[in-house]
Amino acid sequence: MKVLGIETSCDETAVAVVEDGERIIVNLVASQIDVHKKFGGVVPEIASRQHVSNIKYLLKETFDIVPPREIDLVAVTHGPGLVGALLVGISVAKGIAMSMDLPIVGVNHLLGHIHSVFFSSKVEFPFIALLVSGGHTEIVYVEDEVTVKVLGRTVDDAAGEAFDKVARVLNLDYPGGPAIQKAAKEGKPNFYKFPRPLLNSKDYNFSFAGLKTSVLYFMRDNPKANVSDVAASFQEAVVDVLVKKTFRAARDHGVRNVVFVGGVSANKMLREKAKDQAEKWKYNVYFPDISFCTDNAAMIARAGYFLHKKGYTSDMELNAIPNLTLDKG
Ligand code: KG4
Ligand code: ZN
Repeated sequence: MKVLGIETSCDETAVAVVEDGERIIVNLVASQIDVHKKFGGVVPEIASRQHVSNIKYLLKETFDIVPPREIDLVAVTHGPGLVGALLVGISVAKGIAMSMDLPIVGVNHLLGHIHSVFFSSKVEFPFIALLVSGGHTEIVYVEDEVTVKVLGRTVDDAAGEAFDKVARVLNLDYPGGPAIQKAAKEGKPNFYKFPRPLLNSKDYNFSFAGLKTSVLYFMRDNPKANVSDVAASFQEAVVDVLVKKTFRAARDHGVRNVVFVGGVSANKMLREKAKDQAEKWKYNVYFPDISFCTDNAAMIARAGYFLHKKGYTSDMELNAIPNLTLDKG
């Protein structure tokens, strides 16, 4: 079964075709980073307009490789995300499904991220996933391809958001994650001990707003501080909390397989610390390939394939749900 995946929830326009949830035939991503860079963050209206103009090129290229008559199912992100951005993908998906008389399935963007790991590894269920991106930080118990339970999440900023905001405080590039990682390479992670919010709380929640503020105050009080040292110390504080709480959730739930997905899972220090922890405590740890950490449509096509296989479908009433959570499908 060939599934056409469409993803437009934020600032990446993406189209993919995946066969039987496994074989990637097409995987195209048009990033808008350069457009939003000058504003220091994603501007929603510009994102929607960019999707409208980019998607036609991606579809044309896709249909040159896989003609529309070979498609069996259309899978499209219906939330969470920016409403205007989501509506572009949904409208296009509906148009294709209607004209080709194809079934359509709405996919939760966060479930998509969880599926991104399977393109590089065969992970056995159940597993604990840390979904850590620009908009989300959640620890999830994954029972099978479509059954997931959120164990905890951030109570304020997402980890990626903290990277982006701290990068701004340190006058580094956008997006902040890769910029901080680069600056941190030259810095000392033990230069300053920033707080590890909720590290020892009994729940699986996170909080990064206070950490961001402490970097802000630190720079106000120490304007001559070495940016690389501050970046390295901040990065270590975030990674420490993410890794420790994720493995604690695995231990508490008797699960040996641990997965990291989402934009921040590209972070090198996160990967190294998670691998160390896994080796020490005998867990199996998995990450998507770097190019599948950030938004793409192959993960949406794969999730859509399994949703459809398990009997989930949508219809022409499908609409954007900007604040969709994983518990709600
Ligand atoms: O998954 P994603 O592309 O978009 C959302 O669904 O949010 O994640 C983007 C986020 C941004 O906040 C970016 O700064 C962060 O992922 N990110 C990183 C790295 N690469 C991207 N954070 C830390 N280290 C990285 N290497
Ligand atoms: Zn995402």
